[in-house]
Amino acid sequence: MLNDNNRGTPPASSSTEAQTDHQEMIERLLSERQIIVASNRGPVTFRQRGDGTFSARQGSGGLVTAVSAVLQGQQAIWIAAAMNTGDRRRARAAAEAGDTLITPESGSKFKLRYVVPSEKAYYRYYNVISNPLLWFLQHYLWDTPRAPDITRETWEAWTGGYVAVNQMFADEIAVACDACDQEPIILLQDYQLYLVGGMVRKQRPNAILQHFIHIPWPDPDYWRLLPMEMRRQICEGLLGCDIVGFQTPDHARSFLYTCEAYVPGCSIDYADRAVDWNGRHIIVRSYPISIDTDAVRRTAYSQEARAYERYLPQHWNEYTILRVDRAEPSKNIVRGFHAFDQFLEDHPDFLNRVNFIAVTQPSRMDVEEYRDYLDDVSAIVGRINAKYANVETGWQPIHLIMGESYPRVLAAMKWYDVMMANSIIDGMHLGAKEAALINERNGVLILSEGAGAVQQLGEWALVVAPADVEGTARALYEALTMPQRERQRRSAMLKQMVEQDDVTVWFRHQLVDIADLVVGNDTDAKEQTAVPAKAQ
Ligand code: F6P
Repeated sequence: MLNDNNRGTPPASSSTEAQTDHQEMIERLLSERQIIVASNRGPVTFRQRGDGTFSARQGSGGLVTAVSAVLQGQQAIWIAAAMNTGDRRRARAAAEAGDTLITPESGSKFKLRYVVPSEKAYYRYYNVISNPLLWFLQHYLWDTPRAPDITRETWEAWTGGYVAVNQMFADEIAVACDACDQEPIILLQDYQLYLVGGMVRKQRPNAILQHFIHIPWPDPDYWRLLPMEMRRQICEGLLGCDIVGFQTPDHARSFLYTCEAYVPGCSIDYADRAVDWNGRHIIVRSYPISIDTDAVRRTAYSQEARAYERYLPQHWNEYTILRVDRAEPSKNIVRGFHAFDQFLEDHPDFLNRVNFIAVTQPSRMDVEEYRDYLDDVSAIVGRINAKYANVETGWQPIHLIMGESYPRVLAAMKWYDVMMANSIIDGMHLGAKEAALINERNGVLILSEGAGAVQQLGEWALVVAPADVEGTARALYEALTMPQRERQRRSAMLKQMVEQDDVTVWFRHQLVDIADLVVGNDTDAKEQTAVPAKAQ
């Protein structure tokens, strides 16, 4: 399971000759074709100042960070949704000035183009369908006897929100394609845009379309919680693409099973990881995402991050455990604290000597389940601190740091003995990769076997089953008592893995497969035009 034998691209050991060939293919591809990326969240979010000008702040999350990194040197177009008032105003200001393309930040070569749904349509698409429904489904987050209920409101949000906003993306992409001399390379991102591939394909039968899904893909049985019509539209939307990409081979395989179960008339080739449907051949691959190691290091050692190092030590202790997450139910924060509680009960000799720092970023606060989860996190922190706090020394076991500051996150990651990444299930868990890269104390990684990152990092981490509170408590003890030499060995291997498989590798593997596809299409087109000539 730990080998990515399902990846469509050559293994690291492939010959230098083949790598040079691939490099040439990629360079040719990029010099001939425009790249168009589409994702819900854009690279920046805008805020309008009092004087009418705009300030831009980098968008949060792994998708934005990874795609921004790989697009930095490219003349690409990035199509994103205007997510808030600032973005909408920026889009309007651009339209009034007669510009369709916005330069997101000074120095970026790529340009941004906004899709601007009405607030109601956006709310339905993002806060009713994408996050509470699709995200929950794909992370197995429901207590199924009670949720979900697909009601008339859900259907209205599906049609008037998800389908409508996906159509707006498709239309915007079609307009951007019209301005290109040759069919561009269209890279669709993630679960908010499942229908876009099929919609673009209807308008442009020769489009080159790839969709990368950053989150897990559950088994067909679990998809049955959505009505047939919705799950079929989702699969068929994705099958509008030429390539569908996932984080892990397991999720790619799950997608094949799901298509077989719910898409009438498709035929699946499990060995070649491909679907034939509607007269087209769609390949399904895995490309594990990673981080921009240079950029992470730059930020970790920037002045801003160093400024945090002045106040972070007040949270450190003889032993320091760290976790960094969005306040997100799939991250399993509450169970991580239960495990810590268990550990302290079992090993009272660690009282006063260990601090658990949780850097938590509130997220998707318009969705009830996220607000409730943040309350659950605060409540358990309060309970554990009240149970163990030492009034004489002032020691308290858990330090919850709320808010969003990437330099602060990286500053904290330099200093931990144990990093806890115990997600219930996770597309990748890029935080585990960032932490492994920049930690300076030979810290031990506790990693959930449900995180995509386990495929690359599992061998040198302590791998836990996400619901196993007892096992996670034991892993904490093992990590905190691990001999230095063993910590050093594991931490060196983790760093090496992250360095050799960084975000450029993720992008390169996708481009190799796209280049193969383009060459194949060109050859087919030549053969097709040659046939009538021969017949005459
Ligand atoms: O793929 C998951 C992802 O897109 C991550 O990049 C990020 O952590 C999260 O979802 C962001 O979600 P949102 O844009 O809704 O805040």
